[in-house]
Amino acid sequence: MENKNEIFKLTAKTFKGLEDVLYEELKNLGAQNLIKGNRAVEFEGDKALMYRANFHLRTALRILKPIAEFKISNEHELYDAIQTIDWSSYFDLKDTFAVDSVVHSNNFSHSKYVALKVKDAIVDQFRSKFKKRPYVDTDNPSLRISVHISHDQCTVSLDSSGESLHKRGYRIKTNKAPLNEVLAAGMILLSGWDKKSVFIDPMCGSGTLVIEAAMMAHNIPPGMYRESFGFETWNDFDADLLESIYEEDIPDVNAEIRILGSDVSEIAIRIAKENIENANLKRKIDLLIKPIENYNPPSEESGIVITNPPYGERIKKNEINSFYKLLGDRFKNKYSGFEVWLLSSNFEAIKHIGLKPTQKLTLFNGTLECKFLNYSIYQGSKKSKK
Ligand SMILES: C[S@@+](CC[C@H](N)C(=O)[O-])C[C@H]1O[C@@H](n2cnc3c(N)ncnc32)[C@H](O)[C@@H]1O
Repeated sequence: MENKNEIFKLTAKTFKGLEDVLYEELKNLGAQNLIKGNRAVEFEGDKALMYRANFHLRTALRILKPIAEFKISNEHELYDAIQTIDWSSYFDLKDTFAVDSVVHSNNFSHSKYVALKVKDAIVDQFRSKFKKRPYVDTDNPSLRISVHISHDQCTVSLDSSGESLHKRGYRIKTNKAPLNEVLAAGMILLSGWDKKSVFIDPMCGSGTLVIEAAMMAHNIPPGMYRESFGFETWNDFDADLLESIYEEDIPDVNAEIRILGSDVSEIAIRIAKENIENANLKRKIDLLIKPIENYNPPSEESGIVITNPPYGERIKKNEINSFYKLLGDRFKNKYSGFEVWLLSSNFEAIKHIGLKPTQKLTLFNGTLECKFLNYSIYQGSKKSKK
């Protein structure tokens, strides 16, 4: 008989720089024995917690359930180790599977080759037991298996998320260089926004930051719009348990929080509008087509700007430097009382902002190393400028 409350190890994966906020999110969810790692947080919990983690965590990319650990030093040992796992207890011949691998080891040069070797070991085990083999489906498998090799340490996990959790399900269109949803949520959590004061992204593009902010402010779980999670095709899937988790939290649709997005590009705002409508947040976010040069924030005592300006890959150096100078001047003159947070990979242009950052964090936007900078614009800075 299956023990519903059995506690097991789990690993939540994230982006570099978001481990602290993910740790906090997990703690708030009731996870036990947390250990912060590199781009990951390990924790313990039962099946309900695994479902909740997938449904509620804003800064997790995947939730993995480790099922075996081995010490291995070559591909033959890997093959033999994988064959010691009884794969038919996890999936059937009629199911499909896929293997993802991450390798940090001199013993294995290609992660793709590792995945292939693992797939062969699994297929061969089924063949020798049943004279038939299950098939691989890399897009939509019934079971996603994750293999992580660090030096000689190999961890085999089941991926309970399936598609990466950044795929919330609300995004129908993207404009140029959209932020990953997990990164956007992480930026908002890192900023410490109180989810009450006015939130502005004056270069909002396809609207990722304003949508993530609105979901947070109205207590809408990030998994709300997902069609499915990986664990739903597992042998032990408990549909009633998932149903009860869906009903646990009631979004606070009546909260009055001003969330404003604007952009110079009409196309970007059209796309943002479609994504916002798709997320059912039409009445919660106000959009405007306007260059930041002419955009005036509402005169509030306090508020927050979190934004991701162009990094200037396609424009001349002096143009991007003067644009960042303009941003700095604009913040100093128009946003007194605001906390401004800006993500950029253009370290040279950042220097032209001309304001002293109160905090400087490192994040990665894809492969680009970025600074996530906080400028506290005090009431006084406006007057002193005058
Ligand atoms: C890196 S993209 C932002 C992407 C956005 N965070 C998302 O997730 O889609 C930068 C945005 O700045 C906008 N932009 C560029 N110059 C601007 C200006 N002067 N005023 C307002 N928006 C501007 C661009 O149209 C673009 O949408």
